Amino acid sequence: MIDLRSDTVTKPTPAMRRAMADAEVGDDVYGEDPTINLLQERAAELFEKEAALFVPTGSMGNQTAVKLHTKPGQEVVIEERGHIYNFEMATMSAFAGTIARPVKSNDGSGILTWDEISGALHFNSAYYVAPTGLIAIENSHNLAGGSVMSRERTEDICTRAHERNLPVHLDGARIFNAATALNESVANLARPADSVMFCLSKGLGAPVGSMLLGEKAFIDEARAIRKMLGGGMRQAGVLAAAGLIALEESPKGLPEDHANAKRLAEGLAELPSVRIDPEKVVTNIVIFDVSETGQTADAICAQLRERGVLASGFGSSIRAVTHYDVSRDGIETALRELRSVIGNTPHV
Ligand SMILES: Cc1ncc(COP(=O)(O)O)c(C=O)c1O
Repeated sequence: MIDLRSDTVTKPTPAMRRAMADAEVGDDVYGEDPTINLLQERAAELFEKEAALFVPTGSMGNQTAVKLHTKPGQEVVIEERGHIYNFEMATMSAFAGTIARPVKSNDGSGILTWDEISGALHFNSAYYVAPTGLIAIENSHNLAGGSVMSRERTEDICTRAHERNLPVHLDGARIFNAATALNESVANLARPADSVMFCLSKGLGAPVGSMLLGEKAFIDEARAIRKMLGGGMRQAGVLAAAGLIALEESPKGLPEDHANAKRLAEGLAELPSVRIDPEKVVTNIVIFDVSETGQTADAICAQLRERGVLASGFGSSIRAVTHYDVSRDGIETALRELRSVIGNTPHV
């Protein structure tokens, strides 16, 4: 199977498995797991943040941040396709007591400008209007096709938010992909934000785990919220050991994943009934519109599955994500199968 559904489907590398077997462990609820402590120190160093916390999932990291930055009754301003709003249940309401204020990005990139954000902010409004408690940004932006927010845009949004005493949380599930595409350090992309979450288990290929980073006092509180959510793990150093390899080794492979995504996008753009702009594919996510093929996205995905290729249908679009378990040959095979399922002529 050539599995392009997500970059979460990767299997741990042999080096990760060896590190997991050899990991020194302790009880992390007592703060005594040396491998987790090392991972947290290393992540904080790399991101130039005061402290880091190992959490089981990206969703737990994001929602812990939402809880800590806001008060019940406030709004979270977020791009309308943002993961925190669309794919983390309604946790921001159920747990933090907040609601989302979704904002459309006018150029379709998913990358908001300050002007777009500022139009959605509520402060000093009438007392019956819910005030803004947090701005949440996402880099790279999953549902917008892996688009990236530049360091300058991130700095602009965060500076202006801070002038208004508003915190900014960065959902950096794929921040290493963004950093690779922008030729920036992850520290430069994350520095202006008050908190950042990144995933070890997406493009970096670890089997489990994400990191939440911020000031030390924030991370101290986050540790308590993590426990409240049932995320206090014990000898999870076996997972952190794979995370350390992911952090140190996996970013080197991302340029290849991005080149594979670009090749896939260019091949798809040659199909007359497929809508995609390969120029906009800058990381490892390829989203293409199949509404002119005369078939539904789900029907296309079902036929692809029979031919050994997995992708995800979303409405009239299909998403394919590259990662280290898919080679260039795999991409060429996927393109061949896509050509034969979709066809070379436009549907009339
Ligand atoms: C942008 C983004 N943020 C957060 C998450 C949540 O991560 P997890 O699945 O580990 O909860 C995902 C997962 O796909 C994601 O794509």
